[in-house]
Amino acid sequence: MNSQHTCVDKEALVFDASSTPGRYTVTTALPYANGPVHIGHLAGVYVPADIYVRYLRSRGRDVVFIGGSDEHGVPITIKARKQGTTPQAIVDHFHALIKKSFEDFGISFDIYSRTSSALHARTASDFFKKLYEEGCFIEKTSWQYYDEENKQFLADRYITGTCPRCGSEGAYGDQCEKCGSSLSPDELIEPKSAISGNAPVKKETKHWYLPLDQYEGFLRKWILEGHKDDWRTNVYGQCKSWIDGGLQPRAVTRDLDWGVPLPLPGTEGKVLYVWFDAPIGYISATKELLPEGWEKYWKDKDTKLVHFIGKDNIVFHCIIFPCMLKAHGGYVLPDNVPANEFLNLEGEKISTSRNWAVWLHEYLADFPGKQDVLRYVLTANAPETKDNDFTWKDFQARNNNELLAVYGNFVNRTVVLTHKYFGGKVPEAAPEALSAADKEALGQMCAYAGKIAASIEAYRFREGLNQMMDLARLGNKYLTDNEPWKVFKTDPARVGVVLNVSLQIVGHLAVLSEPFLPFTARRLYGILGMEPLHWDDAAREVLLEGGHALNQAEFLFEKIEDEAIEKQVGKLQAAKAENLRSLQEARPDYPSLKPAIAYDDFARLDLRVARIVAAEKVPKTKKLLKLSLDAGFEARTVVSGIAEHFSPEEIIGKRVCLLANLEPKMFKGIESHGMILMAEGPGGKLVFVEPDADAVLGSQIS
Ligand code: MF3
Ligand code: ZN
Repeated sequence: MNSQHTCVDKEALVFDASSTPGRYTVTTALPYANGPVHIGHLAGVYVPADIYVRYLRSRGRDVVFIGGSDEHGVPITIKARKQGTTPQAIVDHFHALIKKSFEDFGISFDIYSRTSSALHARTASDFFKKLYEEGCFIEKTSWQYYDEENKQFLADRYITGTCPRCGSEGAYGDQCEKCGSSLSPDELIEPKSAISGNAPVKKETKHWYLPLDQYEGFLRKWILEGHKDDWRTNVYGQCKSWIDGGLQPRAVTRDLDWGVPLPLPGTEGKVLYVWFDAPIGYISATKELLPEGWEKYWKDKDTKLVHFIGKDNIVFHCIIFPCMLKAHGGYVLPDNVPANEFLNLEGEKISTSRNWAVWLHEYLADFPGKQDVLRYVLTANAPETKDNDFTWKDFQARNNNELLAVYGNFVNRTVVLTHKYFGGKVPEAAPEALSAADKEALGQMCAYAGKIAASIEAYRFREGLNQMMDLARLGNKYLTDNEPWKVFKTDPARVGVVLNVSLQIVGHLAVLSEPFLPFTARRLYGILGMEPLHWDDAAREVLLEGGHALNQAEFLFEKIEDEAIEKQVGKLQAAKAENLRSLQEARPDYPSLKPAIAYDDFARLDLRVARIVAAEKVPKTKKLLKLSLDAGFEARTVVSGIAEHFSPEEIIGKRVCLLANLEPKMFKGIESHGMILMAEGPGGKLVFVEPDADAVLGSQIS
């Protein structure tokens, strides 16, 4: 179709990375509003994005920082159904909780919006309509899984089954969480409805597809040629393998009743696919923030669009959403998508369902006022290039040995000594009084603004944080080397110079640590009696003039004791024990073990492989079936009490274990010779103990 080519060929507004942009739009993945947020969210997405944005603001760049809750999608409706409430009630609760956690941790969004808003529905719906009207979609009718009992199509997580790739059970219609493969419902082995547990039927339905295959040329040129050098290797690699693997048309609509309704006549009961509407949420949130001025943040080619996400979101942000933007036309494409890998917790994957997580609201209750400690540890261990591990021991060590021993100690000693020797006023230091070592220290100090800026602009936040700490180390060492507490008796003027130099380093630390440790920086400016400065001020040597009065020193960090850490480790152990317990609870009650027997007792049983060749109900009984068996060496008749569990037809042909030397007994006039071994299945249903298909009829089981 010609019209589809129009969508792909639409003029691309690809940002020219060589110039310094005038404007930034920074987005963070919209978390699903079906649970609280944990340290994995913070480390993967929100802390790095916040560092980046705070840095840009400090440089006076024009930036909007966009966040919000993703309030559609099947996991939310499933949770609502389980809890007997509405999806809206679920998202209202978690949206408020998540929003507060982000505020508490200083994630400095310009707006934190939500996708259940009316403005978002309109924006997403208009976006879809434009693509529809321009012929960018393919319409296709297909047979999809349907739950007859609940009268509902089973898209995405509404259908579960065995993963065709790794064989684990409980894979979803869109993804297997065990091996990470993306799936389509048709690939699942033994599919089941997640609502009723029933086997689904298939029913015909019509949907709209974005033909990603038609965008291959565009994606190759834009990503594979255009971003080979500036996108992270993990991001680039995933994109390349998607593109090389052959892109397929993707359905962007679903048969559900929770989501943005399709804006087409005759499509009641259909909504936009959550991954179609959610990224448009970035645009609606910008509109909500700036009803008049939003467009330049999305449509002006001088705007640099950056998406902060976790690695499971790469395909949506690098391939699907850009194709949507391209099809629509007029929008800029992302300049970079610095996706992080995953953060593990004490060596295990963070898991909401197993409660293996550090929840942000719980952390704050246990460590009030220590937001920066967590921000610091999560940045120092950020999973930028590979999965990384958070441990409470490391958390304690980094607080005690780095933040407290280096940064805090340096600031504290400098301010306390200034009060002690100079009444809290910054001592003068004439240029000619500076020694070579002083000049060397000041020179090094001034280089940090540029170094850290380069790291942050390259999305290397761990590196930037280490450089910031190197500046604190520089100050700490300078102070220790010059020993003002010893020199004061003999040469107070020299101490004035040393403290002046130290205070300049403290001032630089305040400026350069602000993106990483915003709460600490604010307190530090307070101690220094200064208004916050800008990044570019840190290129200057003198930030505190002689004679300027400081406020009293206060401790920026405090020691974290072993008990506090043990408490956290204990919490995790409790979660682990609880998981084990509920696993066991899900199992039946086991009868206690019978007394031990000698081997000879066992050897007296003669067990044989047999096959059911005929079965019929024993008249006038509820429980009894008469089974005719082929036991290999002879034919047998066995009366078995399984009629309430099986119909005669369904067991014909079954292979069974037969206790063959049980003495015969009469039931309702039928001689029963032997017994069939049975076990218990789910819900107390009896099931056969079935010999392997290769077991020879009549052979002995021993
Ligand atoms: N809710 C998604 C997740 O947690 C992320 C959505 S990002 C957006 O994986 F772009 F779609 F909003
Ligand atoms: Zn799998």
